[in-house]
Amino acid sequence: MSKIQAPKGVPDYFPPDGDDFLFIKHSIAHEAIKAGYGYAELPVFEDTQLFVRGVGESTDVVSKEMYVFEDRAGRNLALRPEGTAGIMRLIQEHGLAKGALPIKLWYAGPFFRAERPQAGRYRQLQQVGIEAVGVSDPALDAEVIAVADHAFKRIGLKQYKLNINSLGCFTCRGIYREVLVAFLNKLNLDSETQKRVQVNPLRVLDDKRPEIQKQLTNAPKIINHLCQDCQQYQAAVEKLLSENEINFVPKPDLVRGLDYYTRTTFEFEHALLGAQSGIGGGGRYDGLMKAIGGEDISGIGFGIGVDRTLLAAKAEGIALPKPAQLEIFVISVGAPAKNLSFSILNSLRANGFKTDMSFGDRSLKAGLKAADRSGAKYAVLLGDSELSSAKVQVKDLKSSSQTEVALAELIGFFTKNLRKGA
Ligand code: HAM
Repeated sequence: MSKIQAPKGVPDYFPPDGDDFLFIKHSIAHEAIKAGYGYAELPVFEDTQLFVRGVGESTDVVSKEMYVFEDRAGRNLALRPEGTAGIMRLIQEHGLAKGALPIKLWYAGPFFRAERPQAGRYRQLQQVGIEAVGVSDPALDAEVIAVADHAFKRIGLKQYKLNINSLGCFTCRGIYREVLVAFLNKLNLDSETQKRVQVNPLRVLDDKRPEIQKQLTNAPKIINHLCQDCQQYQAAVEKLLSENEINFVPKPDLVRGLDYYTRTTFEFEHALLGAQSGIGGGGRYDGLMKAIGGEDISGIGFGIGVDRTLLAAKAEGIALPKPAQLEIFVISVGAPAKNLSFSILNSLRANGFKTDMSFGDRSLKAGLKAADRSGAKYAVLLGDSELSSAKVQVKDLKSSSQTEVALAELIGFFTKNLRKGA
């Protein structure tokens, strides 16, 4: 029979990478929690219309990359390609906007995009995201950016930069759109791209094909068409970032791959990741809630790519902290001792010691080898004679010295030897 493999473009993580992956995820989450964001668990699939209306029908993410399926009752569902639309649906469905504003939520998990897989570009990608909804205040935009920046710094990343732009509001974007369409109409574009110019001209700016990018060098920039309010808003965000030592680079041609963005937009780029250099991105999305049928409230957030942040940490050679070492390894010889060793294992764990035991019908020698390999500091040895005397042998695996300890005193022994100064 042929072997079954993981679907194309879907990464597996297992130790030691699995632990590194979790460390990255927890580090980002830590900064979100510290900034007062509460955890939201979103469904992995949603009504397809949520993304069509929220993220935008003409985006690649929705039109080309979404995993869409019908359930048994014929409902049209999609695996979530991103988290922002889901958060807005959740806020609307549960009336959260009636409470204190801003609503600050964080989320984490897998998202799905049928992109062409390559290094750092996966079909199941992992993000940690935050969303701050219901308040339009430059300080909130700066906070969201600061949380991402602090998370990257916490991990130890150095070789990244933050690109910032403003995509304007519905008023100035309307005017800019006309200028842009007039420019794009003069270019030599294929018929599909020409259609795109009519439906969503900003999307054309995001076209990665070199033959298109070449023609876009002199394209009008939104930043030169911002209304006064949007200009002031952007200046206020940038001032707050500068005053708080968050380095950024204004990037007037930054357009993001999702349609909901307004005003502040940003992307964190890592220098060592090649083509897939975006380790996180986000922005303000003041029309999204209304687009999915909710109240007209604003929001801002980011999504950080956990997979790519891990690749970036590795590329910089950062030594990520390893999970705490095993402390005690319990070895038993013979069936009766095995039952007692399992009880000892559970009692040690219940008392907070990181403990494992030798499983299977193993000799003392094989058990000791497993104990050494486990990295534990101590081994607890018991056989028939220990069983009758209610005492065990405790071996210090580094010095090889052995001590006899009464079962009743075992927890006390380890508290004294492993929790010294605790
Ligand atoms: P996004 O830029 O599409 O934004 O994705 C955010 C991050 O997810 C990217 O910067 C990248 O690190 C990672 N990512 C995206 N696609 C892939 C992929 N195929 N493989 C590996 N990593 C990937 C959003 O998703 C928005 N929801 C962010 C946001 C939140 N905006 C406002 N609030």
